[in-house]
Amino acid sequence: MEKKNIDWANLGFGYMPTDYRFVAHYKNGAWDEGELTTESNVTINECAGVFQYAQTCFEGLKAYTTEDGKIVCFRPDLNAARMADSCRRLEMPVFPEDKFVEAVIKTVKANAAWVPPFGSGATLYIRPYMFGSNAVIGVKPAEEYEFRILVTPVGPYFKGGAKPIVIRVTDFDRAAPHGTGHIKAGLNYAMSLHAIVDAHKEGYAENMYLDAATRTYVEETGGANFIFITKDGKLVTPKSDSILPSITRRSLCYVAKEMLGMEVEERKVPLTEVSEFAEAGLCGTAAVISPIGRIDDHGKTINIPAGMDEMGPVTKKLYETLVGIQQGKIAGPEGWVKVIEG
Ligand code: PLP
Ligand code: COI
Repeated sequence: MEKKNIDWANLGFGYMPTDYRFVAHYKNGAWDEGELTTESNVTINECAGVFQYAQTCFEGLKAYTTEDGKIVCFRPDLNAARMADSCRRLEMPVFPEDKFVEAVIKTVKANAAWVPPFGSGATLYIRPYMFGSNAVIGVKPAEEYEFRILVTPVGPYFKGGAKPIVIRVTDFDRAAPHGTGHIKAGLNYAMSLHAIVDAHKEGYAENMYLDAATRTYVEETGGANFIFITKDGKLVTPKSDSILPSITRRSLCYVAKEMLGMEVEERKVPLTEVSEFAEAGLCGTAAVISPIGRIDDHGKTINIPAGMDEMGPVTKKLYETLVGIQQGKIAGPEGWVKVIEG
């Protein structure tokens, strides 16, 4: 199969239509089989639930080319399970988890020419999503839904790739206690847009959100969880019911503990403790691991000792191990890498 003629090394994190996308419909209480289509536009009623009451959720995962030329993806079963959780919380019908994984594989296979080559620095971002598609005017769940998967080749989420970023503590909240912060609802991202546009205006790459109830504990950013490394080499990551349970973070905690012999603490992290850490980073599918060099908190500067030039040594080890597993260079736990082709 001939790859598309794309400047893979210089891709940003953007959308580019590829040849095929997957679409399935839910009607009269059941999902149809779903199929691949070349049509990239969606036509639905003007009063669709997604337009009126934001009834939509999504997922994000990546396909990679391994050193020996296979196309693989990483723990798609966990994305299927998390999407099912999102659907239940938003009164949307669950797309069966096994069918979700099958549909991811089918969509990536059909777009194999768009999967960036090994070593290019790019990956194929996979975006499964679902929305209420029939007309709804009273506040209630839709009765009809579309489940879709689009794929698009991407480069690094943050400009500069693995260079440390500067973030700020924001006064905006991302998620309420007992709200929807733990699921991947589109509405969580809509309400973060103002905060991120404002952060960018002020020269910051991201916002650090605090817990909405007390504004004393670290939560996450708009699109990634936090990891911190203590001066004695422990991995610390915030525990909260209102952050997204990142698959990258869960994988990193396992890698740190079981493969690198590190101590791992998943617990509440007071903002006041952040200045004591040796290294800090963001983790997620899009972000992979992005090191943080500095955090500004209302005129107070927290300089992370690892500095602004490169990733700290422990973060680097975690990064290399995780990416090594994803690219098939390092053997990871059984079932983490799902072979799609090759
Ligand atoms: N937190 C938020 C708010 C996100 O949108 C994402 C991205 O999916 C993550 C964390 C990271 O999750 P994952 O590692 O599963 O991609
Ligand atoms: C991801 O990492 O997959 C995300 O969804 C984060 C962001 C692009 C919304």
